[in-house]
Amino acid sequence: MAYYQRTFPPPPDSSLSETTSRRRTRGTELFFSLLLFIAFSFYFSSTLSGTDLRFLPAKRPHARNLISNVMKDDFQEVTRLSRHVSSVQDSAKYQSVSVLLPDWEVLVLLSPETSLDSVEGFYCLFWNSQTSPARFSGVLPFTERTAFKCAMPNGARRPPLWQPILTKYPVKENPAKERELLRMKKLAYESISTEDDVVLFVKGVNARSRSRSPQPQDFMCVFGDAVKIPVTSCTQEVFRCSHPDLTAFTSGTDQPIKMSLQIMHQVQNRTLPSVAYYRPRQSHAQEPKSEICVCTMVYNVAKFVKEWVIYHTKIGVEKFILYDNGSEDDLQNVVNELNGDGYNVTTLLWIWPKTQEAGFSHNAIHAKHSCKWMLYIDVDEFVYSPSWHDSGPSKHLLKALIPQLHSIGQVSIRCLDFGPSGQKSHPIEGVTQGYNCQRWDVSQQRHKSMVLLEAIDDSLGNVVHHFRLKNTFQWRELSMSSALVNHYKYQAWSEFKTKFRRRVSAYVADWRDATNPNSKDRTPGLGFEPIKPQGWEFEFCNFTDDRLKLLTQRWFGQLTPNGGYKMAWQR
Ligand SMILES: *[C@@H]1O[C@H](CO)[C@@H](O)[C@H](O)[C@H]1NC(C)=O
Ligand SMILES: *[C@@H]1O[C@H](CO)[C@@H](O)[C@H](O)[C@H]1NC(C)=O
Ligand SMILES: *[C@@H]1O[C@H](CO)[C@@H](O)[C@H](O)[C@H]1NC(C)=O
Ligand SMILES: *[C@@H]1O[C@H](CO)[C@@H](O)[C@H](O)[C@H]1NC(C)=O
Repeated sequence: MAYYQRTFPPPPDSSLSETTSRRRTRGTELFFSLLLFIAFSFYFSSTLSGTDLRFLPAKRPHARNLISNVMKDDFQEVTRLSRHVSSVQDSAKYQSVSVLLPDWEVLVLLSPETSLDSVEGFYCLFWNSQTSPARFSGVLPFTERTAFKCAMPNGARRPPLWQPILTKYPVKENPAKERELLRMKKLAYESISTEDDVVLFVKGVNARSRSRSPQPQDFMCVFGDAVKIPVTSCTQEVFRCSHPDLTAFTSGTDQPIKMSLQIMHQVQNRTLPSVAYYRPRQSHAQEPKSEICVCTMVYNVAKFVKEWVIYHTKIGVEKFILYDNGSEDDLQNVVNELNGDGYNVTTLLWIWPKTQEAGFSHNAIHAKHSCKWMLYIDVDEFVYSPSWHDSGPSKHLLKALIPQLHSIGQVSIRCLDFGPSGQKSHPIEGVTQGYNCQRWDVSQQRHKSMVLLEAIDDSLGNVVHHFRLKNTFQWRELSMSSALVNHYKYQAWSEFKTKFRRRVSAYVADWRDATNPNSKDRTPGLGFEPIKPQGWEFEFCNFTDDRLKLLTQRWFGQLTPNGGYKMAWQR
């Protein structure tokens, strides 16, 4: 008995996805399990009353059938028997909806009315009764849903895929196969309201047909179950429509109103699965608008943020808005520390994978009331001007780069890529000090933009950091003598490896994607494995460019006794 209870059920966090070690022990396990099962079947069936028997198979199979069942069902029969059954209510109180993300990750969103004492100790219980730990990812800022992520165990990956149950008691019978798992590939995932209309973000519609670009009249916004409003614009993942008439909702507007997209078709209209909710018009406090803000999408970049925020604040950025793709590092602490020091950094959980463009479209609406210009750069990118080499830092430097014309709605700045510059690990003085070898390859050069938010076209269309503008506004490219972006793109191998495994990107191929070996976005010389290429630290290096290194030493450095510099962000 003691042996039995100690061995089963398996501790939930040694989830069944750890298949390799399991397979090795499977033979012995199987043998003992069978013995135990047979012994206990007899024991239970002769001594326990009916209610205790409910988790036994209705008809106890003969030993021979049992063996084949056990093999076929990968132990579930045996382990299930040994689990003590907790009441269904335990898990029923966590009302959730789950979405399949890439790499067999499952996003579990809890209803906002759920009160949680703690976000620790949760598990996903899958339809085949396998479990995996649920990692807390944060709270979605606009729908107030608590988000968890679970790895889907191998055994649960057979279609149809069912939504798991979020529970603290992962020991119970197979959960019902009730609701199919939603797929990120086809989903209305977020919405935001303006004074005039509603913006809905949808994945998997516009990629559908390449023959004809979708037209607004192909779609309707759906509010609740039945209120439909024509779509007025559709570009990329962004759909817009008017606000619904709230009196149409009998249940009142205290309850969140689900919002989705209907695809119109002659044969059958189809409404997409959705985790988006409509929020009626928001009123905006009359806060003073910042002249220049920065928006970026981040994932596990905590160690780079400080240098980047301190530097850009010095040249005139007033606010930083980080769309956080579920970071699992120290980001929040770093942000709190910066805010404590008087910087202005906001993080928004934007958990949707491969939605960088949509995130920027969202930001263009979300920040419109608090920022005039928005600079879209990544945390490994630093804007500067070669003309600053003998000026001091000033709040006006960045603004002065924008041509003084009212019709200018967007300026773009050329990027210079930097190589590992001999570094074998993250340079503690920061990237501006550590990386100074520039790569010269004109075919790879990109631009980054600073955009006047009110100049952005209603479609919110944008491609790799440039927005489509209203007709009355113009776009200027700045000359390389007036502005540059230093892009610390190929960092020490330890950094590069992690960064490119999980890139925030929408319409470019994954670097590991063997199907697209010639993509411009891939790194030349890299295979499909994250293995350090020979001599990495001296690659991507054509000539030394110390301009920003020297500038930041002057502005932020303190000479140390050994002749080096200690930078303002090294605390
Ligand atoms: C699809 O929806 C539109 C608008 O609600 C409606 O006019 C049309 O009849 C529907 N078509 C079908 C096939 O149900
Ligand atoms: C950042 O600025 C906004 C106003 O735009 C203000 O409400 C907020 O408190 C500021 N945050 C910090 C940390 O100063
Ligand atoms: C964002 O998170 C998803 C899911 O974990 C991941 O697939 C994607 O690569 C992440 N993006 C970045 C840039 O890390
Ligand atoms: C830059 O360096 C790379 C090697 O890192 C070399 O292949 C390339 O030809 C160089 N480009 C120029 C313009 O010198």
